[in-house]
Amino acid sequence: MALVEIRDLRVRFHSTGKEAVRGVDMTIEPGQRLGLVGESGSGKTVTAMALSGLLQRGSAALSGQVLFQGRDVLTCPREELRAIQGPGIGVVFQEPMTSLNPLIRVGCQVEEVLRLHTDLTADQRRERALEAMVQVGLPEPEVTYEKYPHQLSGGQRQRAVIASAMVIHPKLLICDEPTTALDVTVQIQILRLLKSISVRYGVAILLISHDLSVVRRLCESVAVMYRGRIVERGNTEDVFASPQDDYTRRLIAAIPTRKRHE
Ligand SMILES: Nc1ncnc2c1ncn2[C@@H]1O[C@H](COP(=O)(O)OP(=O)(O)OP(=O)(O)O)[C@@H](O)[C@H]1O
Ligand SMILES: [Mg+2]
Repeated sequence: MALVEIRDLRVRFHSTGKEAVRGVDMTIEPGQRLGLVGESGSGKTVTAMALSGLLQRGSAALSGQVLFQGRDVLTCPREELRAIQGPGIGVVFQEPMTSLNPLIRVGCQVEEVLRLHTDLTADQRRERALEAMVQVGLPEPEVTYEKYPHQLSGGQRQRAVIASAMVIHPKLLICDEPTTALDVTVQIQILRLLKSISVRYGVAILLISHDLSVVRRLCESVAVMYRGRIVERGNTEDVFASPQDDYTRRLIAAIPTRKRHE
């Protein structure tokens, strides 16, 4: 069974009356790394929010199906959704400062998902959190554990967010522009980290970016979104080498030549 199967997803916001997602179909297999690219406003984040169950029912009309391991996150009861969020689907968003609570120590936040979803003791949780912090390359995990988010660098904060999402080993990590706020060297390190987590634990990744060259570093397949629809999908290298859709061609042409040949 596919891990994720999205069928004809449509999202219309009540406030604007506009359909932001206009019939998206998407499949993610266990362990697959799929990139979702497209220009600003094409509906990438809205799709990801619908998939992770974070879209407020009151703010938008949703239709279609979003199956996670066969359960429809659009219609399943609240408790079932809560059981999916965290252990099933972890999320990493662009600006780590908004995903971290400034008043709570980093280690506690990394542990949070374990506190909510497992019977582990406090000591076991701490152990797992420290382990995750080592895996994401946070320096001196014992020390970092006690720090507050503002005491970390931007790259370290993003690593902390990734640690808090992967500490429970979810089936899927949704990463929405996880490296956009970071400088290029850190960006590459984080992408490497995500790849190693995916390979080591069989975690599927949905990587959202407006930058095809970022997707190419991490994902074997890619879907291209344009104005609420997926206009092209396939093996990343194939799409890169011979894009079929006009919009994809323009997206590739927009990548600086140096990056295109890296
Ligand atoms: N809460 C909301 N209320 C009304 N419209 C919204 C809301 N959130 C998003 N939209 C609209 O939905 C469309 C898709 O937005 P979305 O955030 O998914 O774009 P995106 O592809 O993620 O763009 P970016 O690359 O800039 O992050 C846009 O037209 C946006 O204005
Ligand atoms: Mg977005």
